[in-house]
Amino acid sequence: MAEAGTLHDAFIDELRDTYDAEKQLTKALPKLAKASSNPQLRQAFESHLKETLGHVERLEQVFGSLNEKVRGKHCDGVAGIIEEGKSIMEEDFDDTTMDACLIAAGQRAEHYEMAAYGTLVAWAQAMGHMDAARLLQQTLDEEKAADKKLSSLAESGINQRAADAAHPDEEEEEPVRAGARAGRKGALSGKRKR
Ligand SMILES: [Fe+2]
Ligand SMILES: [Fe+2]
Repeated sequence: MAEAGTLHDAFIDELRDTYDAEKQLTKALPKLAKASSNPQLRQAFESHLKETLGHVERLEQVFGSLNEKVRGKHCDGVAGIIEEGKSIMEEDFDDTTMDACLIAAGQRAEHYEMAAYGTLVAWAQAMGHMDAARLLQQTLDEEKAADKKLSSLAESGINQRAADAAHPDEEEEEPVRAGARAGRKGALSGKRKR
């Protein structure tokens, strides 16, 4: 009978999966950037692309610290998220609605990565692979910051402008400034048509 795998085997497997996920994302992020109308959103995707190239390199260092060969293993999870993002980009949405959808797609990827790196850091720490844990934590921090950045862009006007376009009647009742809060107040006091 074959010997049962250990947490260390599962850890290496997860590293390979994540390595492949990062590589897939280096190809997907330029497409998200290109599809963005809002310049700050495009900038956010572009700067996270640079970080993502760093994540690939950092994982290579992690493999090195464990005396493991650098190897990827197809990540079905991120492939699915990217596939969904592609379908969204094929939709015929107005610019701001598309931006809101691109943020949603980007955040799905970031949350997947945050889950992956959260687990990898915890397992590395539990097994005493402290160099690996430190490197993985650096990437986890950058994924969290990228996710926050996307939330702040959504909440600082993109969602509200898309919502106003969806419910133009409410916009007439109370003109909405770029501020999301003023818009939300308007939406609550206004009557919904659909
Ligand atoms: Fe990443
Ligand atoms: Fe990321």
